[in-house]
Formats: sequence, structure tokens, C-alpha cells
Amino acid sequence: MYLEHLHLLACPRCRGDLLCVRTEQARDDGSLLDGALGCLACQKEYPVIGGVPRFVPRENYASGFGLEWTKHARTQYDSYSGLKVSEQRFLGQTHWPRELEGQRILEVGSGSGRFTEQAANTGATVVSLDFSYAVDANHASNGARRNVLILQADVFAMPFRPGTFDRLFCFGMLQHTPSPRLAFQALPGVLRPGGAMCADIYKVSLVRTVLQTKYWVRPLTRRMNPDRLYARVRRWVDFMWPLARLIRTLPKGYAINWRLLVADYSFLGLDGAMLKEWSYLDTFDMLAPRYDRPATLTTFRRWAVDAGLTDIETEYTPHGVVLRATAPPQPSAL
Ligand SMILES: C[S@@+](CC[C@H](N)C(=O)[O-])C[C@H]1O[C@@H](n2cnc3c(N)ncnc32)[C@H](O)[C@@H]1O
Repeated sequence: MYLEHLHLLACPRCRGDLLCVRTEQARDDGSLLDGALGCLACQKEYPVIGGVPRFVPRENYASGFGLEWTKHARTQYDSYSGLKVSEQRFLGQTHWPRELEGQRILEVGSGSGRFTEQAANTGATVVSLDFSYAVDANHASNGARRNVLILQADVFAMPFRPGTFDRLFCFGMLQHTPSPRLAFQALPGVLRPGGAMCADIYKVSLVRTVLQTKYWVRPLTRRMNPDRLYARVRRWVDFMWPLARLIRTLPKGYAINWRLLVADYSFLGLDGAMLKEWSYLDTFDMLAPRYDRPATLTTFRRWAVDAGLTDIETEYTPHGVVLRATAPPQPSAL
């Protein structure tokens, strides 16, 4: 972390100011690699490990995501795949301009950081947090950028003062928390009055959910040791691959493959080893998360109304439901 970003943080327990209280490894460019931050008010200390301040234990209910994004640290990055998938989703969902220099953006639930890269490209100062140790993968890709700060932290106890950010986005995370509603409601308070937010969530639809075979096996797989599950997923995808290749030639065959628990991104134009890499990643991503709690568009909208947000817009996308809104005129107490 660059110490010039320290003023953006506050103690998640008491909102006191944080200081660097221990330096074990630092660089001449003003970055702290290993050491500790301490709260001036309550004296609580938070380690900085590998350039990332840690406000939660390394292992927790999201450790499967830590494994997933360590194994596939670059797989879905546009700068790796050559696609524009993350850029299009970032700009298409947020409706934000490409240039945001001088603004502060918060990303919640960043995984390996494919959207951190997009947000950082706007020139804004980007603070990006995730509950899992996927933050190490994000740091390896984006941590050296002067306008990026990466944290291992929990959406339910974020280390910020109210009103710190101009904008925030939260993609692919809410359904993977124990309470998507409470996670959503934790977000607006860190925005300045009139700040912009954008979040998405898997869509619940009775028919779709019943037909989604992942929900048939998840009661078993969500409890499995992530390493063991990942090995089994690879074996399953390898075993099914010749059949999946045939099915893919049918009209909308890729959708059948998803039902057979083989994530199939051939519709993006991927092929060969890259297609298989995405398949390992997202087949595991279907089965491993401890929580997978989708919502309806109506429910999602109601959360936003209850949080006092204004200018609420919702739409269906291939990823579920997207919501854009503006923070209320007064920052709420966190
Ligand atoms: C499906 S991944 C999405 C990653 C990234 N946004 C993307 O779309 O590529 C969901 C992420 O949410 C994170 N997450 C789950 N619970 C969280 C919490 N309580 N606080 C912060 N992040 C959380 C997980 O660790 C995981 O990396």
C-alpha cells in the first residue's frame, strides 16, 4: 500500500484514524509491504501483509474464492484474454464516464481484480476490497498502480468513515454473502451525499432456479474442502470435454453444457486452452461458494428504496439484475 492512501482508511471498530505503527518491509517509493496499522483511538492493530492491509483473518467463509482467484488470477482479465468483457460490463453497468480523475471509487468484492483494472483506468483513486485472500492476486496485478489501494476487509465492517467515496460498485458479490440485503445496506453510507453506486445480484426465478442443476449439487459441494473440490471440478470438466465440444455445435448448445455443470463461454468467441481455463474457473465458481442467494428485481429495488437511495434504475442483464442509484443527501451513520 502507498502510505499516501492511509487517510482514506478508518478503524472498522471505532472509526478512529489509522497510523502506520510498524514497518517491517517498505520501498523507497513510499509503499509499505509488511508492517502494521494502528488505531489512534482504540489502539487496535491491523497487519499489512504483502502490501495489503488486513482487517479480517486470511481464512474465512470466502476461502473458496481465495483459491479460485489464486488459481485463475488473470484468466478473466481483458488484458490477458484479449476480450473486452470486463470493460464492457464495467462501463455498461455503471454508465460512468471513462475519465474520473480526481474522484474516489470504492470496489466491494473485487476477486482477482479484473474490474479493479477497469476502474483504475479511469484515473480515479480506487480502493478495492475483498473478504478473501484473492486480494493477493489483485495486488499482484494492480497493487503497483499509484491510484490503487487493495484491502482484505468485510463488507459488513468496512474500514472507512461515512461519505468517503464519490462512487462505488459491487459486482458479483452480494449473493455470496450470508445476507445480501444487509450487505447491500452497508454500501450507501460510505458514499458522499449524491454519490453514485452500482451493484448487481443473481436473479431469482423459480423456474430458472429449479432448472439450474448447480442448485441440485451445491448442498454437497458448498461444504467441501476447496482444494479437493477444485481437483474434482478439473477432472469433471476434462471428462466431459469431448461431449461438451459436440453439444456446443448445437444451437444454444453452450446452455446445455451449463446444465451439465460444464461452464461454457464459447459464445464469447473463446476456444482452445483459454475456453477450458474459463470452464474450470466458472464450474468451480458455481459449486464452491458457501452462499448463493439470488434476489428478484423487485426485492433488489426495495432494498434501495429502504436505504433512502434516489434515481434508482434496475435492469436485467446476463449476470442477473443490475441496480444504479444515487446516495441520499445526508450520509447515513455506518
Ligand atoms: C464471484 S466473486 C466476484 C469477483 C469480481 N467482482 C468479479 O466479478 O470478477 C465474489 C467475491 O465476493 C467476495 N465476498 C464474499 N463475501 C464478502 C464480504 N463479506 N465482504 C467482501 N467481499 C466478499 C468473495 O471473496 C469473492 O471474491
